[in-house]
Amino acid sequence: MKGVILAGGLGTRLFPLTKITNKHLLPVYDRPMIHYPIQALVNAGIDDIMVVTGGRKSGDFLSLLGNGRDFGLKHLNYAYQEGEGGIAEALGLAEHWANGDSVVVALGDNLIENNIASAVAAFQAQGGGAKILLKEVEDPERFGVATLEGEHVTRIVEKPKEPESNLAVIGIYMYDGRVWDIIHELKPSDRGELEITDVNNWFIEDGSMTCEVLDGWWTDAGTFESLHSASKLVAEGGANKLG
Ligand code: G1P
Repeated sequence: MKGVILAGGLGTRLFPLTKITNKHLLPVYDRPMIHYPIQALVNAGIDDIMVVTGGRKSGDFLSLLGNGRDFGLKHLNYAYQEGEGGIAEALGLAEHWANGDSVVVALGDNLIENNIASAVAAFQAQGGGAKILLKEVEDPERFGVATLEGEHVTRIVEKPKEPESNLAVIGIYMYDGRVWDIIHELKPSDRGELEITDVNNWFIEDGSMTCEVLDGWWTDAGTFESLHSASKLVAEGGANKLG
């Protein structure tokens, strides 16, 4: 299975840190932020990876990551996102490379404590559809929020003012090869972006979405508070056993 890391955007919530560089190049404790999601995919057994970047200093990703040797990879693929079209638009830039395959997608500002190999294996065993990972949080209004009936997710609302649960949809998504056509059909949201939540709701309506609640800690790192807490979590406990 292929992996896609999404590392574009302007990172405006971190101004002025992101005024001259890309959010995903900022330090989280002792490494650049993007190292963590790449390592998370590699630890889950995914070694064919594309990094989609854009915005400021996108050329620096090549200098930093090269061919992926720091992660034991022989090769890394890159794509460039022009403008600010959203997470789903960025993912669509991997379509040609993915060539109809299923993918694991990780947002470049998401960090996890534990290995997700078993979730990836469960997705492969389900034989198509999609899978998302959920985590209980105290501030669900900052995220995509899932409503469950039993073990089934029935809908996801992006940044709801009145969340129906405290289960955030974390930024690691697994999709079968239909995702590429779904992205073509998306319409921009009120904030003018193609939303990954709309992709996820398509799979929910299709009846082919599964979900798991993640073990161990998870954090994004796209705000001052979460960037700080990501550094603390890594310093105190490590993140998915980085080499
Ligand atoms: C994005 C997604 C959101 C998800 C979050 C995880 O939000 O839109 O559904 O919960 O990532 O980090 P963003 O950080 O782009 O606002």
